Amino acid sequence: MKIAVVGGGSTYTPELVDGFARLGSAVSELVLIDPAAERLEIVGSFAARIFRHYGHPGTVTWTSDLDAGVTDADAVVVQLRVGGQRARITDETFPLECGCVGQETTGAGGLAKALRTVPVILDVADRVRLRAKPGAWIVDFTNPVGIVTRALLDAGHRAVGLCNVAIGFQRRFAGYLGVDPAAVVLDHVGLNHLTWERAAVVDGVDRLPGLLGDHISEISEEVDIPASIIGMLGAVPSYYLSYFYKHDAHVRQSIGSATRGQRVAEIEAILLDLYRDVTLTEKPALLGERGGAYYSEAAVGLIASLSGLDDTSVHSVNVRNNGVLPFLPDAAVIEVSARAGLNGPAPLPVTALPPDLAALITHTWGYEELALDAALRGGRDRVYRALLAHPLIGQHEQAEALTDRLLAAGREHLAWA
Ligand code: G6P
Ligand code: MN
Repeated sequence: MKIAVVGGGSTYTPELVDGFARLGSAVSELVLIDPAAERLEIVGSFAARIFRHYGHPGTVTWTSDLDAGVTDADAVVVQLRVGGQRARITDETFPLECGCVGQETTGAGGLAKALRTVPVILDVADRVRLRAKPGAWIVDFTNPVGIVTRALLDAGHRAVGLCNVAIGFQRRFAGYLGVDPAAVVLDHVGLNHLTWERAAVVDGVDRLPGLLGDHISEISEEVDIPASIIGMLGAVPSYYLSYFYKHDAHVRQSIGSATRGQRVAEIEAILLDLYRDVTLTEKPALLGERGGAYYSEAAVGLIASLSGLDDTSVHSVNVRNNGVLPFLPDAAVIEVSARAGLNGPAPLPVTALPPDLAALITHTWGYEELALDAALRGGRDRVYRALLAHPLIGQHEQAEALTDRLLAAGREHLAWA
């Protein structure tokens, strides 16, 4: 099986390669694709050493030629970042001037990212469709994953969106319970980066109430959300919900502090230096300081299932709603637990949601629809409308000010602005 990774020059890539080297026995060829040739050379050589280190018989190659790289691929992982950390730092900064959270996927920063990313991804996907094997899957890690996946599906691509939030909870809960991670099936529901774990079923028994009884303070600390909220909901929100439940506190903390993107840029520079060392054959511990824990395992597991090699494992995926959440249209993209096979993911049933969760999901879905429209068609009015619709914005003055700043900061990446 040939796997192509678009954005393969990322400093994250060794995490992914480590997963394929340890677990992806069906992979015969891994191709890393990235326009940043110098970085790709460093990451590519290191990736090849990781494969050799694990005695994996597959080949690792790298190229800046997208069309050549995806030719005859069986699956294409897309993990690109338009504008690099520089654009991310801007996304994390401009909303603060308007009293709004500065985050790369939540709020106005997430809209800025969607606007510059969707057109690039659609172009990549068109080229994949022409050159990859018929039926090849696109596995999208590119944020904002919900909006990007919706764009890909609407354009008729065979795509699944993936995020590591759920697999992180699965691993953590399994650790608390002392069971194999695969034994923990999560009732994971919402939109990408707006999800709750509502059950953790092991051998047919929901162990989440017990976990909350024993570990609520650790969980609360981990997701940066008060234990009182977690206890009240009886569900564990992802830490992205902290930007909703504690919005103003985040704004206060962020003003005058370094952004996550600045810290990541520092980590990346050190990682690249480490990767240059030809004696390095395993991913360095510093990579664990990035947010991508277990993303390799999520990708390897999902690709195995989509290739027909494993129909029992449960994955957390971004897919069309198709009735799973009765209050959203079928065409909406949601993030839920699913099994998967050659025909794609098949979501597990979701029990009825309480009004607070259903309301926030619906409100954010409305924003995402408008965000995608703005990304596809451009225009100041569409940007403003999406911002006004966002549950964390919702007011004219802020939406106006954010629109001006977003457009001024993002012009370099927006053909229409
Ligand atoms: C988590 C999220 C990803 C996000 C990452 C950011 O893994 O699920 O979608 O890209 O965190 O991590 P970083 O190290 O770039 O802050
Ligand atoms: Mn994610």
